[in-house]
Amino acid sequence: MTHDDHGHGDHGHPSHDDHGHTSHAGHGSHSSHHTHDNDDFDWAAMADLLELEGETHSPYVRQALAELAQPTPRRILDIGSGPGVAACRLAAVFPDAEVTAVDGAPELLARAEQRAERLGVRLRTQVAEFPAGLADLGPADLVWSGQAVHHVGDQQGVLNQLAGLLEPGGVLAVVEGGLPPRWLPRDLGFGRCGLQERLDVAMAERFGRMRAELPGSVAVVEDWPGMLRAAGLTDARSRTFLIDHPAPLAEGPRRFVRGSLERCRQVLADLLDTEDLSTLDRLLDPSDPASVDHRTDLFLLTAKTVHFGTAPGA
Ligand SMILES: C[S@@+](CC[C@H](N)C(=O)[O-])C[C@H]1O[C@@H](n2cnc3c(N)ncnc32)[C@H](O)[C@@H]1O
Repeated sequence: MTHDDHGHGDHGHPSHDDHGHTSHAGHGSHSSHHTHDNDDFDWAAMADLLELEGETHSPYVRQALAELAQPTPRRILDIGSGPGVAACRLAAVFPDAEVTAVDGAPELLARAEQRAERLGVRLRTQVAEFPAGLADLGPADLVWSGQAVHHVGDQQGVLNQLAGLLEPGGVLAVVEGGLPPRWLPRDLGFGRCGLQERLDVAMAERFGRMRAELPGSVAVVEDWPGMLRAAGLTDARSRTFLIDHPAPLAEGPRRFVRGSLERCRQVLADLLDTEDLSTLDRLLDPSDPASVDHRTDLFLLTAKTVHFGTAPGA
């Protein structure tokens, strides 16, 4: 492990991340603030939570890179990099490669630059709005994209574009799916048992709404290896990596769980009943001894799935 394996926390929903999408066209100058009716989709405001999430989940990126059979990549793109946790990891693992973090939110790319400087790795950044801005990015030997494809209306269309950026023999690695997180015991000592499962259901509902509202939203069977094959890639395969922070949680993962629960409280208010909302309020009240800040039974268990495909013709 390197120093950035031990970040000060994280948050995140591998399979029901609902962070929304940026809503601007073109390159380089837009803000990442959304046109939605609240701040649920303000990427810049989510910088801390995204960085915490990346840091808490981070070891899976290195494990996924160990799966690559290709020669050392020279040019790497991280599409939808956010604050650059994975991009910096890519830069640390492949120090001779030119790694570019690409995102629609300039504020998050600024965070990625600061992170790269702090960690002493070489990283370029490029503002681009998907899908239009993907056309100018290639070629690359490795294209990585973590939980960004599902924020674009036409997921197959984006995968086709990403596959088109690859050199012959290059690899596309897409992080999608995985398992929803587990943080809490079934019985918390108050409220109705099984809160976490009801959060899953509400998040899945919200995710469906988010996808349906995306511009140019296209329904597709989310068979990720099949979609990689449809994009013309070969050797499509999926690997899943366990993220296991047992109780009692260290400060970083604990902050991530707090951030995630705060987000649930914020974005699921219309999908949970009043009893569950009160339970969340109690979990989030720092003065309550049963809150996430004090509980010794809080844990973080989840899994990330990475789908790989290879460009033919090497
Ligand atoms: C859920 S975050 C993932 C961040 C990081 N890759 C990770 O795995 O933690 C999704 C990222 O995609 C970016 N994004 C979403 N939709 C986009 C779009 N249409 N164009 C450009 N960037 C977009 C957001 O700004 C955000 O940084």
